[in-house]
Amino acid sequence: MTEQHATPVHRHEYQVPPYRVDSLELEFSLDEEETLVKSRLHICRNDGINPHEPLHLFGESMELLELSLDGKALRLGDYLLKSDGLSIALVPAQFTLEITTRLQPQLNTQLEGLYKSGGMFCTQCEAEGFRRITYFPDRPDVMSRYTTTVIADKARYPVLLSNGNPVERGDYDDGRHWVRWEDPFPKPSYLFALVAGDLACRRDTYVTTSGREVTLEIYTEHENIDKTAHAMASLKRSMRWDEEAYGLEYDLDIYMIVAVGDFNMGAMENKGLNIFNTQYVLASPDTATDTDFENVEAVIGHEYFHNWTGNRVTCRDWFQLSLKEGLTVFREQQFSAAMGSAAVKRINDVRILRNHQFPEDAGPMAHPVRPDSYIEINNFYTATVYNKGAEVIRMYHTLLGEAGFRRGVDLYFQRHDGQAVTCDDFLAAMADANNVDLSQFSLWYSQAGTPKLRVRDEYDPATQTYTLHVSQSCPPTPGQSEKKPFHLPLTVGLVDTDGKDLPLQLDGESHALDTAHRVLEIREAEQSFRFVNIPKRPRPSLLRGFSAPVELDYPYTAEDLAFLFAHDSDPFNRWEAGQRLMSDLLLEWTAKGIGKLPQPLLKAIQETLAHKALDAAFIAEAITPPTEAYLAEQMQTIDPLGIHASREALRQQLAQGLAKQWLSLYQELASDNTAYRPDGDGAGKRRLKNVALGYLSCLHSESEQTRCLEQFRQATNMTDQLAALALLADTEGEVADVALREFYERWQREPLVVDKWFRVQAMSKRSDALDRVVALIEHPAFELRNPNKVRALIGAFCQANPARFHAPDGQGYRFLADNIIALDGINPQIAARLAAPLSRWRRYDSKRQEQMKLELERILKTQKLSNDVHEIVSKSLA
Ligand code: PHE
Ligand code: ZN
Repeated sequence: MTEQHATPVHRHEYQVPPYRVDSLELEFSLDEEETLVKSRLHICRNDGINPHEPLHLFGESMELLELSLDGKALRLGDYLLKSDGLSIALVPAQFTLEITTRLQPQLNTQLEGLYKSGGMFCTQCEAEGFRRITYFPDRPDVMSRYTTTVIADKARYPVLLSNGNPVERGDYDDGRHWVRWEDPFPKPSYLFALVAGDLACRRDTYVTTSGREVTLEIYTEHENIDKTAHAMASLKRSMRWDEEAYGLEYDLDIYMIVAVGDFNMGAMENKGLNIFNTQYVLASPDTATDTDFENVEAVIGHEYFHNWTGNRVTCRDWFQLSLKEGLTVFREQQFSAAMGSAAVKRINDVRILRNHQFPEDAGPMAHPVRPDSYIEINNFYTATVYNKGAEVIRMYHTLLGEAGFRRGVDLYFQRHDGQAVTCDDFLAAMADANNVDLSQFSLWYSQAGTPKLRVRDEYDPATQTYTLHVSQSCPPTPGQSEKKPFHLPLTVGLVDTDGKDLPLQLDGESHALDTAHRVLEIREAEQSFRFVNIPKRPRPSLLRGFSAPVELDYPYTAEDLAFLFAHDSDPFNRWEAGQRLMSDLLLEWTAKGIGKLPQPLLKAIQETLAHKALDAAFIAEAITPPTEAYLAEQMQTIDPLGIHASREALRQQLAQGLAKQWLSLYQELASDNTAYRPDGDGAGKRRLKNVALGYLSCLHSESEQTRCLEQFRQATNMTDQLAALALLADTEGEVADVALREFYERWQREPLVVDKWFRVQAMSKRSDALDRVVALIEHPAFELRNPNKVRALIGAFCQANPARFHAPDGQGYRFLADNIIALDGINPQIAARLAAPLSRWRRYDSKRQEQMKLELERILKTQKLSNDVHEIVSKSLA
């Protein structure tokens, strides 16, 4: 293994850019065989920089045709050309550099830089894609004004888009035309975008609070334009919400969104020209589920909110990625909570954190929210940076309160609008605006690992005092053996025997606060809180709303949990109590063998079902057992088959024990004939109905299968149809194939629906799931080049079907390794992301460890392995 792989970049090596580019003019001549890019950069040396400092421009995977400085052509020798860019040894303090490069976007399968998706040209520049378009100081702290001219054949590419406002257009007499765009806001190169294609447009307008009219445009291929109404409505709601919640208005005259079928991520916040994965734009009731509708709204919001948190104020370097992502995810969470059920939104946010971020934090790729080093930045668009980053922002919000948080954000914009800054700058704004010391809080940015919060309590009837003893610790993570105590908010309530929240008065306070719960500030390794005037031993409701991203350890009895599940006034903790009740049981069954369902649990579920005050969406969450991924995280050595068997047994016993209730619930909800609307109320009812259908189908009777098939065939929307299909696809008989065939025949022309068809089969509980997935790789609709297809089939099988992926014969591991190797030559970014499940090999028994390790070693031996995959695999084996 003498192959050369890139070396790590370290956060502490940051240096200010020696040269800046105040403005540039770009000209793209797009064509089928080759694309020419002409760039004119207006460059200045920054103050205090040595005049002998060379100019370095990053550049990769393109051909340099011409280079001139202040009009004088440079020849090789005047500059140095290397595989990662070019440098010019001696440049004046101020000059113009002209560069012509040649690209072949039609051959770009990595989907970074300029590429083709379907028939259209599009770009993806975050994080380091601009350097695949032209030579440039491609780093986020170089902010410039862009003028972009796009030239292409008018018949094939009638729509030509870039950032900012269109300022001029014209036709050539050879059939080509051109459009010039000007973006008045200085931006880093990662926010550059260009689109050219034959696209349909949905147009609308939005009037901002201050009365400015903004044109809104959503572009897709013609056949999909009728599926963009929900995206447009979501965009307007996002714009309104950001004005109301943060006082932030949109700043250009036009906001464009383009949907593309080949995209590595969810969407991209390019200034004024967002580019989206079709998955997060297109939605119609017959092809998209309620969850898809919710996701479209959330991602549209997310990218829109980036206009301030990311674009107006951007990152100094890529180590600060969470500065924009953590904050924007948090803002999106607030927005979604305001648009629908806040409780259900919080439950889902925490589920994502626990299923994806906690395992990451406990594995070989664990890294702080602000990493200290990376080899390939694309590997650091992680659940830690995004979702734990959002939890960190939420903790400021909880510690400082709504108003204090807003003061901090206001000061952040006042200080840093138009700048490229750091996580420390954000923290300083929060601290200064509120006159508090947040130096200890900054450990959330630097220390990796999920802290453990151990809480014990004591009640003294004589003095009527109740004391909580809180201690914290954090397990070691790669490169960090010792951790200092974190500063975190522990939101608590004390619940009396009637289920009411007690007034909370700490020892030394003159009176109780008039709130159901309060925020205890934890700073020490060990701390105690003594509450007075507590007439009887209460039950503590700890970490309400999941106030910190920690693992809570408190010795709740099954009785306590059943009580809190029935009474906790905090909806998150109410749900959490039910989840703990079920996970305690499931972990016991997994360790000691499956037993009989305890009556109190059955009763608790039954009462939840009958609870009139709870909404359907919440009930659906509350009666669903914890995921296999969450249960796995609780085990020292993960037993994937044991977990699966226990969870299935619980579902089975709940199905039998409450068979009558499931049936009447299903019938009641299924008889609702109101027309489909993807709103929270309708979606919640469908969700609950389909959970009931799921329990009914656990009864494994022929009549239940018929019920499923009926719903599948008669459904008037994708939510109901897909829910039934997923249940049928779990069954061993032939009906599964009948339904799958009918579904494919009906939807084969809708790529996003075909993705669902792949995913349902990848996640099937059938014993032959892997064989089927292997066969589906050869299906004509499957494409290794399309990230959505890869995620739907390979990703879903390996990450969301643990019982089949971890089959004892190791074939699941082999399948994954084969595909990582095959994909690495096409799209290394996606290949590297697929490797996560193998990276966690140390969590399994010795036989599985051996099998997984062998596959990782086989990947590592592959010729010309990308830096992306090499980084993940070598760190996993280290
Ligand atoms: N910045 C995008 C977002 O979070 C994600 C992204 C990263 C998209 C890199 C493409 C490439 O909204
Ligand atoms: Zn983002």
